[in-house]
Amino acid sequence: MRIVCVGGGPGGLYFAMLMKKADPRHEIRVLERNRPDDTFGFGVVFSDATMAGIADADSEAYRGIARHLVHWDDIDVHYRGERITSTGHGFSGMSRHTLLHVMQQQACAVGVDMLFEREVSSLDAFRDADLVVAADGSNSTVRQLLRDRITTTVDLRPNRFVWLGTTKPFPAFTFYFKHDDHGLWRVHAYQYGPDRSTFIVECREDTWKASGMDRATEHETAAFLERLFGDELEGHALITNRSIWRQFPTVRTEPWWSGNVALIGDAAHTAHFSVGSGTRMAMEDAVALRDSLVGEADVPSALQAYEAKRRPQVESLQRAAQASLQWFEDTERYMSLDPVQFTFSLLTRSLRITHEDLRARDPKFLARVDDFVSREARRQVGAGETGSGVVLFESSNKTTPDPVSAPPPMFTPFRLRRLVLPNRVVVSPMCQYVADDGTVGDWHLVHLGSRAMGGAGLVMAEMTDVSREARISPWCAGLYRPEHAAAWQRIVEFVHRETPAAIGIQLGHAGRKGATGRLWEAENEPLPEGGWPLVSASPIPYFPDRSPVPREMTRADMDCVVGDFARAAGLARDAGFDLLEIHMAHGYLLASFISPLTNTRTDAYGGSLDNRMRLPLEVFDACRSVWPDEKPMSVRISAVDWASGGMEPDDAVAVAQLLKSHGCDIVDVSAGQTVADQRPVYGRLFQTPFADRIRHQIGMATMAVGNISSYMDVNTIIAAGRADLCLLARAHIFDPYWTRHAAWMLGYPLPWPGQYKSMERYRPRFEFRFTADKA
Ligand SMILES: Cc1cc2nc3c(=O)[nH]c(=O)nc-3n(C[C@H](O)[C@H](O)[C@H](O)COP(=O)(O)OP(=O)(O)OC[C@H]3O[C@@H](n4cnc5c(N)ncnc54)[C@H](O)[C@@H]3O)c2cc1C
Ligand SMILES: Cc1cc2nc3c(=O)[nH]c(=O)nc-3n(C[C@H](O)[C@H](O)[C@H](O)COP(=O)(O)O)c2cc1C
Repeated sequence: MRIVCVGGGPGGLYFAMLMKKADPRHEIRVLERNRPDDTFGFGVVFSDATMAGIADADSEAYRGIARHLVHWDDIDVHYRGERITSTGHGFSGMSRHTLLHVMQQQACAVGVDMLFEREVSSLDAFRDADLVVAADGSNSTVRQLLRDRITTTVDLRPNRFVWLGTTKPFPAFTFYFKHDDHGLWRVHAYQYGPDRSTFIVECREDTWKASGMDRATEHETAAFLERLFGDELEGHALITNRSIWRQFPTVRTEPWWSGNVALIGDAAHTAHFSVGSGTRMAMEDAVALRDSLVGEADVPSALQAYEAKRRPQVESLQRAAQASLQWFEDTERYMSLDPVQFTFSLLTRSLRITHEDLRARDPKFLARVDDFVSREARRQVGAGETGSGVVLFESSNKTTPDPVSAPPPMFTPFRLRRLVLPNRVVVSPMCQYVADDGTVGDWHLVHLGSRAMGGAGLVMAEMTDVSREARISPWCAGLYRPEHAAAWQRIVEFVHRETPAAIGIQLGHAGRKGATGRLWEAENEPLPEGGWPLVSASPIPYFPDRSPVPREMTRADMDCVVGDFARAAGLARDAGFDLLEIHMAHGYLLASFISPLTNTRTDAYGGSLDNRMRLPLEVFDACRSVWPDEKPMSVRISAVDWASGGMEPDDAVAVAQLLKSHGCDIVDVSAGQTVADQRPVYGRLFQTPFADRIRHQIGMATMAVGNISSYMDVNTIIAAGRADLCLLARAHIFDPYWTRHAAWMLGYPLPWPGQYKSMERYRPRFEFRFTADKA
């Protein structure tokens, strides 16, 4: 094959070398616009896992690179005058210059033709090539030449950063967080040679401008930062190399190939430097592209296979990088955290490194984290205790053990008013669609009862409708007649009598999403017959082409709905529930007032957020006045609508602030389901950052929900302070004893009820065979 690589960075060089080795008959040419010795930047960093992957792909190339690596295990975090060290992280650094030099030598040794000082500005010269590899970096010329076939989005992040070097050899991957009169400065520093380190400085735009860095030359930048970090640099100089202040561009492209041209590395995608993975991704792309070309019969099939294999991995890493860069954009928010929790939050910022990973890496540091969380929990539970506090759970099989070491974070208690939850796991509300004219039955008793027996601290009953017209479907649970309350009371009493769990109920009104089919039959689809008139903030149907048009609510309708909610709250009180949640999410009636996408009113209930929150707050106040003072109330919100012009995370903070000022104790932070054409960004813990933002920005307790499925994630969220409680829905369908199993895995002695005491001597034997995956 005749192959042309545009760009002689790590991606282009590594691919050229691997491909030539795969078959020496290939004619491979690398065209690089710079000279062999030109390179911007200083060091690159690889994790041990990345180096293992490089060793796997080509052991000879690996040995050539590995000789130059500086290895370290520690991460040092300098924060509020303290240095917190965590170990076991396994990273290596090396000079980008050396890396390119080694790769150039390796490529040359196997016969790759390298041409320097060749700027590519057109693809015309490569008409006879079988394959063109665009490895020309984040501003890729080749990509721009193919712009009618390849879509590119560039998300230019708001923070400013500058990439510098220093002669100071840092013994650990080092983070500094330092305030001056202009704001907060973050430094990411690591060693890449015997007397060289990378020193990246990052700050918010207002800090950058206030300090005059927006007008500074390279020399002035270095001089200013040398003064600012004089103590930290201990007399060492900062070194510049095209060290201009920049904003990080997150590049996403689709597709990654067209005809016989393939994009790799930064040309196809970028990931923020705080996950240290740009070079790694470029090299992994090179390996995947080589493998596909070797394995497939023709170039288009190979390029298709390359993208199919790599895209999910890259997108997952880009999501991790996004979470990580947002942590650095929002660091100001975390500056009041205790140093140990701050460090834990920093280490787990990408939402991929968990509490359990840190246990393996650095058990001593983790013990400090657990100890901190446990002390905070004891303080929080004790706070406000008057001596006549309600002890909710006190039978012999219900006491929380008093472990010698701190319990895992998820097994610390949490207090809301007089309600003390024994742990942080919550069964998320899940509609069952099997109520009989609003009355819940045996299915609900077993569904909720078994999950309460399964160890969760709080079990949330499903969205329960405040009137017959408020139902999502004819099979939805209700709380608008005395017999509804009696049926619920049976379940509440079972949970209270037999388990340590508390039980809450979620009150809702379906609004324009009412009169639809069951979740598993016809989700959100209008009933073919037997429907009822719908009301909403504005007369906008859910599915524009087939849902009924709801009536815009009048003030009389609102009075009626407020009354319905208050009556339901009274019935929930009579049934004995411990917590009352108002559903203001997922596009249902109250959510339809909050979102500008579904509320186009011009009266006092539309327009500004204060206006759009007017009815939801009236409902909240009416319920609060009926609901017992010693019991907590929560509200579920959709933090974002995942649609243009809809709710954004900052709006959610404002909503939570209003709820807090009306006496809401905790906000349950969900997202989306407002409009049918939403474009959610799913992924692990995808909604947790919204809970984190509210919790830290306004100091309000939050519940996180959405793709939380492992106990490692729950421990991580709680220990980092991203939320106070974690809700799991599908994980609890999969495993009603989810919390018990987590306790077993963690070696935490969660007591069994008397009937099941024989379990204390039982050793389960797990044999996992993922037959389905192999098929
Ligand atoms: C501040 C900062 C810190 C970083 N730190 C790390 C880190 O610690 N670890 C890490 O793994 N990554 C890091 N990266 C990312 C890393 O530098 C890149 O992701 C990586 O170099 C991508 O490799 P690449 O081969 O795709 O592109 P590049 O390295 O950008 O190489 C592209 C090459 O193409 C050449 N070229 C461009 N246009 C043309 C043209 N028209 N004709 C001919 N040649 C052309 C360029 O001169 C360049 O040599 C960092 C990035 C930044 C900005
Ligand atoms: C079967 C089912 C029913 C649900 N019913 C409700 C509900 O009644 N009220 C609500 O707010 N969310 C409801 N949800 C959403 C869940 O509470 C939760 O927010 C969502 O499933 C994401 O969590 P998970 O990733 O842990 O499943 C339901 C989800 C499922 C799977």
